[in-house]
Amino acid sequence: MEKEFLISEINRLKKEKNAIIMAHYYQDGDIQDIADFVGDSLALAQWAAKTDADIIMLCGVHFMGETAKILSPNKKVLVPDMAAGCSLADSCPADEFEKFIKEHPGHKVISYVNTTAAVKALTDVVVTSTNAKQIVDSFPKDEKIIFGPDKNLGNYINSITGRNMVLWNGACHVHEKFSVRKVLDLKKEYPDAQVLVHPECKDVIVRLADKVGSTAGLLKYAIASDCKRFLVATESGILHEMQKSAPDKVFIPIPPEDSTCACNNCSYMRLNTLEKVYEVLKNESPEVEVSDELREKAVKPILKMLEISAKLGL
Ligand code: 13P
Ligand code: SF4
Repeated sequence: MEKEFLISEINRLKKEKNAIIMAHYYQDGDIQDIADFVGDSLALAQWAAKTDADIIMLCGVHFMGETAKILSPNKKVLVPDMAAGCSLADSCPADEFEKFIKEHPGHKVISYVNTTAAVKALTDVVVTSTNAKQIVDSFPKDEKIIFGPDKNLGNYINSITGRNMVLWNGACHVHEKFSVRKVLDLKKEYPDAQVLVHPECKDVIVRLADKVGSTAGLLKYAIASDCKRFLVATESGILHEMQKSAPDKVFIPIPPEDSTCACNNCSYMRLNTLEKVYEVLKNESPEVEVSDELREKAVKPILKMLEISAKLGL
């Protein structure tokens, strides 16, 4: 189908159905451009909690749709492709995580938002990469904490907070693919460039960063910085908004180690297309479902995150 036709049909359906489209920064540029809101994982949860639309079309991966449904159970939550999962969420099966928690009695449980509802239901407070440091800081210094599932983010938060949280051994297959060699090669080619790194990357990459931050954090930093050139170590979808927000600056994606292509893409995020957004919105299906029993448990740690974030002005 023609792109122009799809865009005008999506806009018509949005009005007709009182739907809003939210997109994560890792979506294709075409999807970001038709969205009413584009943001990081925290912003998507915050918008989902307060929208008065009847339908939320969440263009991202499944856990983002699930989080929106948990926060807005009376709304219809749609995702363009139900198969858009997350390797990080998959690295933490709820039954194994529950066993891990039992092996560490007396620990509070902090989970990254990149988890299933079943893992959130085992959690005291959810975090995203935007608020993880501040939320960990909000616990007493001597609190024993389990952090899951991302060992790289957990390691990074341990290093900047002086904590010794027990880490679940999970990771994102996209962020783990960055290599020191590729970063240093690009640094040699562009010595004036600053390196922007998402904390889901391994610590050897984090150590090369001029700025470590969530997608929203890296974007904000790049806009405000005096530097004109940036090497970006996160999923390459973020470059769309970076380039739009700072058209006078140059953003260069750092490629993964094992590939000849220039970008590091999340294959799950890339399953979503404009065509699927159109079809799913037209049919109002497939819909994200969460049972009431699971929702009642999973909503508490998400609301706690939103409450702390609001207090901190995040
Ligand atoms: P943020 O949106 O918090 O930057 O996280 C990135 C991510 O991996 C989403 O899947
Ligand atoms: Fe999950 Fe990684 Fe894709 Fe984000 S980039 S959705 S953490 S697999």
